[in-house]
Amino acid sequence: MRIKTKLIHGGRNATYFGDETTGAVNVPVFLSSTFKQDGPGKHRGFEYSRTANPTRAALEALIADLEEGHRGFAFASGMAAMTTVMMLFEKGDHIIVGDDVYGGTYRLMTRVLSGFGLEVTFVDVSTGQVQHGLEGEQPLTEGAPSDDMREMDPLATLAAALQPNTRAVMIETPTNPLLRIVDIAAVASFCRQHGLLLIVDNTFMTPYWQRPLELGADIVIHSATKYLSGHSDIVAGLVVVRDEALAERLHFLQNATGGILAPHDAYLLIRGIRTLSLRMEAHEHNAATIAHFLTEREDIRRVYYPGLATHPGHAVMRKQSRGFGGIVSFEVESGEQAGQIARAMKLFTLAESLGAVESLISIPARMTHASIPEERRKTLGITDGLIRLSVGIEDVDDLLSDLAQALETTRTRSSTIER
Ligand SMILES: Cc1ncc(COP(=O)(O)O)c(C=O)c1O
Repeated sequence: MRIKTKLIHGGRNATYFGDETTGAVNVPVFLSSTFKQDGPGKHRGFEYSRTANPTRAALEALIADLEEGHRGFAFASGMAAMTTVMMLFEKGDHIIVGDDVYGGTYRLMTRVLSGFGLEVTFVDVSTGQVQHGLEGEQPLTEGAPSDDMREMDPLATLAAALQPNTRAVMIETPTNPLLRIVDIAAVASFCRQHGLLLIVDNTFMTPYWQRPLELGADIVIHSATKYLSGHSDIVAGLVVVRDEALAERLHFLQNATGGILAPHDAYLLIRGIRTLSLRMEAHEHNAATIAHFLTEREDIRRVYYPGLATHPGHAVMRKQSRGFGGIVSFEVESGEQAGQIARAMKLFTLAESLGAVESLISIPARMTHASIPEERRKTLGITDGLIRLSVGIEDVDDLLSDLAQALETTRTRSSTIER
């Protein structure tokens, strides 16, 4: 089956798929916390919904199919998914994490899991740009990279961050909000060589465009709240693992810690996934059009979109992903201007989150990435004037008009353009 067909028909090898009795074409919502046993300890695949629920099982089989993985797991949020994956590790283990990850991931690693003895080093493993080091950053562990590392290529940076207790590398690509690109296959081969797990947050691309497990990753994580659901109506997380050993451990942890997705949300997520191909194509068309429009303007300092040929990660992106996605970030002169633009928008709603049918605008420094200390934000390049657009699937001409009128209201001075 090709991916567009799989979005509709995937997951059919689930323990439960379809309704044998009525022939319903949709997976029913099984609102049952417990299931009748035929004898003590003799159940029909379901005993208690934290352990397994038929609606959730259908979703988990679907996402495993889409990511070409061994088994999928559904959680109550992307962060619940991430937290459960991190429970694979133990006190004293060390994880290397990309330095431009979602602010909530940074918060989880530095303010929650560090308290349980997990060591973390953040490094820039993106390709084609070495200007973002960790200048001004307090080293989080002894292995935190020095300023010299900024001159290194991503694999040398990883090698320098390696410690005897390193167990895994975790990356996002494209990163959020600067859309930097990590070469998944190159990092995967580094991980294999050093016996590390590679965990990839595939939220921005979805399996429709990019499948990290095929490129050598071991675990894929999604905030399914975003494109997979696509309608801003649920919060959900998904994990897919490469093999049975990881599947067994993940299922043990899912059941033991309990951050599962509820059946009704699992149903809505299956419904969202069915139209993923149509939505992703439309998001990308609109995002590319807007990115080109922004590069033409004198009052925009920088445009970040991996589909632009001038983007430093463009070649790697073409190699590992079938598309470039629907997120465009750009930089104006100041936080004040960014605020004015956001307030003047009529179709782009000022809101956190991304990946749904409606267009959203956010100012990462004050919203999604506010939990990252200011100094660190500056070092990463998340300036106060950085704006992130989650481009929806409206008519692109209406989106362009809205953007143009909002930019006009700020009457920006023309400034040096760096693209
Ligand atoms: C890339 C990425 N990963 C993970 C998360 C966390 O997911 P959730 O909000 O579903 O907990 C987000 C949320 O914005 C995200 O953008």
